[in-house]
Amino acid sequence: MSYVFREARPDDAEALLVHLKTVGGETDNLTFGSEGFSISPEREARFIGRFIKNFDEVMYVVTDGSLIVGNGVIERERIPRLSHRARLTLTVMRDYWGQGIGKRLMKMMIEFCKSTSADVISLEVRADNDRAISLYLKYGFIVSGTLQRYFKIKGEYHDACIMELQL
Ligand SMILES: CC(C)(COP(=O)(O)OP(=O)(O)OC[C@H]1O[C@@H](n2cnc3c(N)ncnc32)[C@H](O)[C@@H]1OP(=O)(O)O)[C@@H](O)C(=O)NCCC(=O)NCCS
Repeated sequence: MSYVFREARPDDAEALLVHLKTVGGETDNLTFGSEGFSISPEREARFIGRFIKNFDEVMYVVTDGSLIVGNGVIERERIPRLSHRARLTLTVMRDYWGQGIGKRLMKMMIEFCKSTSADVISLEVRADNDRAISLYLKYGFIVSGTLQRYFKIKGEYHDACIMELQL
């Protein structure tokens, strides 16, 4: 695997918006579809800037040439009583599944959280997304609850699992 794993930079904005549209259209597992995020590259660049500025949040990208093929994000709550909690999101483009990209991003994000004294990492995952759930279980996450009818996609409801890792 000759992909580059690194922190996102503001000049990744355009490629990142393409990545989000692509992964959104490839499965119904995410909170968005093929529309991705309808924001300008300038706004996305400012969003990426936040991760560079904040020592306790990070956005990683995986690149194959000019293409962003993977994206992992750790965000922190700003409310003081919730600020020990980190939130994780992860996407890999379908053509790149099964090559260990998801696992390597998970490892990087967990190590990052440990270095910033987060106590809990949480995420929501569609309850039938076996692939992602087995990846999270592998890294010690447990299912701590269910959000019923979390997604409504094309008129159909889908539950989500809340998964958490206590650090
Ligand atoms: C979930 C996702 C991030 C996994 O990324 P990936 O790069 O394919 O993951 P890896 O190649 O590192 O595989 C990691 C683990 O996934 C699981 N996995 C892989 N293929 C699987 C399959 N067919 N069935 C079940 N689990 C599978 C395994 O636990 C695997 O670990 P192993 O190789 O030690 O057995 C990727 O499929 C994806 O982006 N899916 C669409 C978006 C999404 O669902 N994101 C998560 C939202 S919460």
